[in-house]
Amino acid sequence: MEYRHLGRSGLIVSEIAYGNWITHGSQIAEDTAIACVRAALDAGITTFDTADVYAGTRAESVLGRAVAGERREGIEICTKVYWPTGPGRNDSGLSRKHILDGINGSLRRLRTDYVDLYQAHRYDHSTPLEETMQAFADAVRSGKALYIGVSEWRAEEIRAARTLADQLGLPFVSNQPQYSMLWRVIEAEVIPACDELGLGQMVWSPAAQGVLSGKYLPRQAPPAGSRATDPSGASFLARWLGSDVLTAVQNLRPVAESAGLTLAQLAIAWVLQNPSVSAAIIGASRPEQVAENVRASGVKLDKEVTDRIDTVLGGLITTDPAQTASPAERP
Ligand SMILES: NC(=O)c1ccc[n+]([C@@H]2O[C@H](COP(=O)([O-])OP(=O)(O)OC[C@H]3O[C@@H](n4cnc5c(N)ncnc54)[C@H](OP(=O)(O)O)[C@@H]3O)[C@@H](O)[C@H]2O)c1
Repeated sequence: MEYRHLGRSGLIVSEIAYGNWITHGSQIAEDTAIACVRAALDAGITTFDTADVYAGTRAESVLGRAVAGERREGIEICTKVYWPTGPGRNDSGLSRKHILDGINGSLRRLRTDYVDLYQAHRYDHSTPLEETMQAFADAVRSGKALYIGVSEWRAEEIRAARTLADQLGLPFVSNQPQYSMLWRVIEAEVIPACDELGLGQMVWSPAAQGVLSGKYLPRQAPPAGSRATDPSGASFLARWLGSDVLTAVQNLRPVAESAGLTLAQLAIAWVLQNPSVSAAIIGASRPEQVAENVRASGVKLDKEVTDRIDTVLGGLITTDPAQTASPAERP
């Protein structure tokens, strides 16, 4: 495993991080979840990503149990706040109340005194940004969070937050966007802004939720046990299951083979070629997937390989920066 600084901060993360969306507390049994975390640790992954909303808060609890025996200084735990964690009006968003309630709940479930990175899981258009950043600053000053990040924020939202963070002395260090060979919407605006401001990208779904592993075949039923067959996962994956995308992914197979990689490794290595990426957050429903995917760390892809990828995927690649957006209303 290789390691990178999270943006221009002093925090070092494993360039492949393990995230537990869809899987922990939902799709997979707890012993399998713990085996995945163990495989990640064995491979040198030190960075773990979760969110209060995952599996109705159960994912944080599973991760907390899975890392309970680890030396706290040796791992980085990242979680998020914004999506609803309960039925109340103040159980979502980025108000002072929900941020300060939220961090306490996350720490309790994660069985830790602090999280390394506390992230705004979307932009909250119904809370003044000043209130949000002040609440994050208080979470940091109370020692409950070491660094602050955002997820899926637009370039101008990140710039405004950075100005306030600087005024508050707040270590605002990262953005967590979707990024893969197929979904490149951060390249035009978000990455240039973050590079200028010193924020690193912790990118999610680098394998397009498993589609870029090549296991979904055009016009065939998804493999048993895959995310496309999981009730909570299927809807998120639907956009990638058209036969145009699935055929193109099969056409990437010789490209991966020429680079000595599996398709999943090629997909993860591809996002890591971007120096603005601090970490690729992978998911896994089985420890074998972790063992396979971590071998993407340290891989250098030749320009010939990346050019071939662009040719094969062609018009299927999404680049429109307007695709980065948060709900107009707090959920
Ligand atoms: N900030 C946000 O809004 C946001 C949103 C989404 C995700 N995230 C973060 O990003 C993390 C990763 O997202 P993701 O799980 O979508 O990432 P991903 O790595 O693109 O997809 C992971 C899934 O693909 C399948 N897979 C992985 N490796 C495989 C392999 N070698 N062969 C075949 N199938 C393989 C597995 O699903 P099956 O085996 O079930 O098919 C696995 O759970 C999340 O856990 C979360 O921490 C953040």
